[in-house]
Amino acid sequence: MFKHQIEISAKRNNSNIVLALDLTGERNKEKLLSKSMSLLDKLSNLVCAVKINRHLTLPLGLFDGVDKLIKFIHKFELPVIMDCKINDVGSTNLIIAKNYFEAGFDAVTVNPVVGWVEGLKPVFDLAHKNGKGVITIVYMSHKGAKEFYERKIIDDGKLKSQYKIFAEKSLKWKADGVVVGATKPQKIGEVKKILGEKIPIYSPGIGFQGGKVKNTLLKGAKFLIVGRTIINSKNPRVEAEKILEEASKFIRF
Ligand code: XMP
Repeated sequence: MFKHQIEISAKRNNSNIVLALDLTGERNKEKLLSKSMSLLDKLSNLVCAVKINRHLTLPLGLFDGVDKLIKFIHKFELPVIMDCKINDVGSTNLIIAKNYFEAGFDAVTVNPVVGWVEGLKPVFDLAHKNGKGVITIVYMSHKGAKEFYERKIIDDGKLKSQYKIFAEKSLKWKADGVVVGATKPQKIGEVKKILGEKIPIYSPGIGFQGGKVKNTLLKGAKFLIVGRTIINSKNPRVEAEKILEEASKFIRF
């Protein structure tokens, strides 16, 4: 199961960094693949998982492209997450998830706003039948996130914030992780109160977007999703080690 896989690699590598492998500026497929692989060679024992986004799936394509990269990452025994934020009707969501899982991904991200029946249920069913993971987006890291995630909604007769409803749905749907931006530590704390130890919080936005390791972990996040701070650095290993040194003051992997 994905949820256990990532726990195991976090313990093995003494790391809670999910590397956002968001390489840009290279159109040539072979060069993009080899750049990605050489970065992974440097960082594989300092991270617990790799997250891939459109930065790579668009230029490389899924089959005969990203699938090669996933095979390479799996050699390091690291799980691979597709940050696709699935957000359509159930029949389409199912095809999206099926393609990503067939390419080798171990987990996908989904947007809870489409709901369960004829929405995300087919994705959760497919994932859990095959030992894969589903991570829900509960509160995003960018400034505009507050426009909708913070809206008060009447749910079962009670006035609640949208992101809290997403956290409650994540529990009900048995999500394998939730995403709450590191730029909003107080939101991490509120979501942690709802989830307890049942679902781990993944937090993007460390460094480049302004999120701090200390606040993020003290409020209850478990995994740090980090991209540009590490991959755009002159020495990615040193940057990853700095983050881990800080993280190890507040969390045991
Ligand atoms: P950086 O370079 O900012 O990369 O460290 C972060 C990675 O995570 C994605 N991202 C998010 N994904 N909810 C998500 O599901 C968020 O709030 C969020 N903020 C950033 C981003 O696309 C990049 O891949």
